[in-house]
This record gives sequence, structure tokens and C-alpha cells, in this order.
Amino acid sequence: MVPQISSVLIFGGARGIGAATARAFTDSGARVTIADLLAEEGEAVAAELGSDRAQFVRCDVAEPQQISAAYDRAVEKFDAINVVFNNVGIARYGTVDELSLDDWDFTLRVNLTAQFVSCKRAVQEMKRTGGGVIVNTASILGHASQKTTAAYAASKAAVMGLTRTVAIDHAGDGIRCVSISPGTIDTPLVQIAARTFKDRKPEDLEREWAAHHPLNRLGKPEEVAAAVVFLASPQAGFITGSDLLIDGGIRSELYA
Ligand SMILES: NC(=O)c1ccc[n+]([C@@H]2O[C@H](COP(=O)([O-])OP(=O)(O)OC[C@H]3O[C@@H](n4cnc5c(N)ncnc54)[C@H](O)[C@@H]3O)[C@@H](O)[C@H]2O)c1
Repeated sequence: MVPQISSVLIFGGARGIGAATARAFTDSGARVTIADLLAEEGEAVAAELGSDRAQFVRCDVAEPQQISAAYDRAVEKFDAINVVFNNVGIARYGTVDELSLDDWDFTLRVNLTAQFVSCKRAVQEMKRTGGGVIVNTASILGHASQKTTAAYAASKAAVMGLTRTVAIDHAGDGIRCVSISPGTIDTPLVQIAARTFKDRKPEDLEREWAAHHPLNRLGKPEEVAAAVVFLASPQAGFITGSDLLIDGGIRSELYA
């Protein structure tokens, strides 16, 4: 378990995997700062967890100074930052001949550059306090692609490269850096994606996506959260630079 005094900063913690992880960390005794664009949802999660254990900070990770401000608020309230979960991710779809340069740039800015900016500040904070753990969210799509996901897939593969390098550069500072690669997880992101196919029923699509996973279901946000809490814990002390697939076996199967 994470030590009682741990302070965790979660980017993208207002819903989905991030909110489940905020709950899992507070259950393990940690204090949590949730940084997210969605104020109403983020405030609600923080209120549910209690003002002594959690706070919400509105933050757009596309703006580096807002990432920095979230760090300031976390340190101000909880004195230090022991764990950072860089979990924001967005998708803009299109084949490379159709996808605009703006969509490509924005995807990389939110999914990758924000994690670089956050890692930079995390390392500075963790050096000050003697170490810590950074968990970055990659994706199954960083390992294998789906059509029209060039920007998302490139950003998520790059997250793993960033993670490995932070891990080896700062192992001597007592900092571990790992990434996770979820398969399809039943979150608002996936539920919204299922509703965008006008010619298909969302429940049929979700069943179809579930069937692609050998476990024949979508993952639960709580299952990803439990893995993140473990990776951040001293029990995972020899794990750094690694990527953990949490994918219901989908990456292990060549032909379905
Ligand atoms: N759900 C899946 O199937 C799945 C699979 C693989 C990887 N992932 C990754 O897991 C992470 C979380 O996904 P999720 O499914 O919980 O998504 P979600 O959309 O339900 O939650 C993402 C959170 O990020 C926040 N966010 C988006 N843009 C932001 C910005 N610019 N600044 C600050 N916050 C912002 C959203 O408000 C939301 O609270 C993402 O990085 C995603 O790419 C998800």
C-alpha cells in the first residue's frame, strides 16, 4: 500500500480511469489532487472523497502553466507530491491524408507534450523530497494500431519512450517512472465513442469491442486503478521504465 502520507497528483481525474484511481488512492490512505478540465465532475469526485483527503484544481494540460499551477496547489495543500498519474488522453481520428496538422499537433500536445511538461516538474519536486513515482498512461494503441488512429497511436507509443527515458535518467534520484497500456475500458470516453456511430446501437458496438478481448468483456476503470496503485507502491519498487498491459489479453492474440 502507498504510505499514509502520500500525496498523489492525478491529471485527468474527473471521470473514467482517473476518477477510479483517485478513489483507489484515497482508499489506500493517500491524499489526492485531481487536475482536470471538467470542473463540475472533478469537484464532485473531490467532494465525495472529502476535503481533508482530496481537492480539485481546474487545469487544461494543453497549457503548460496550468500544469505547473496544479503542482503548486498540490504542494500547497499536501506539502509534497509523491506520486503523479499523467492520465489525460484525447483522440482525433483520420487517415494521414485526411487528418489536419492542427489535429495532429493538438493530439500530441495533450497526450504527449503535457506528460513531458508534467514529468519535468514531477522530477523537480521529487528530487526535492527524495523520490517518488510517475505513472504515465499509454494505451494498447501504442502497441498495435487501429485504422484512423495515427495521431493517437503515435502519441501513445511516444509516451512509452518518454517513460523509459525518465526512468533511466532519474533512477538515481529515487524516482521510478512506469506506463500503463489499457485495452478497451468501460469509461465515458468509450461510451461516447460508441454513440458516435449513428448506424449502430452503442450496446451492440460495446459487445463487439468486448468480444475482441480474449476475456470477452471490457475492462473496468477500477481494474486499471488497482494496477496504478500497485505500481506506485513500494511493493513495485523494482519496476521502472516498464509498460504494463491491462488489456484483457487482446495484445496476446494474433488472430481472433
Ligand atoms: N478507456 C479506454 O478504453 C482507454 C484505452 C486505452 C487508453 N486509455 C487512456 O486512458 C486515459 C483515460 O481515459 P478514460 O477512458 O478514462 O477517458 P475519459 O475521457 O473518460 O477521461 C479522461 C479525463 O481527461 C480529462 N481531459 C481531457 N482533456 C483534458 C485537458 N486538455 N486537460 C485536462 N484534463 C483533460 C477529461 O475531462 C476526463 O476527465 C487516457 O489517456 C486514454 O487515452 C483509455
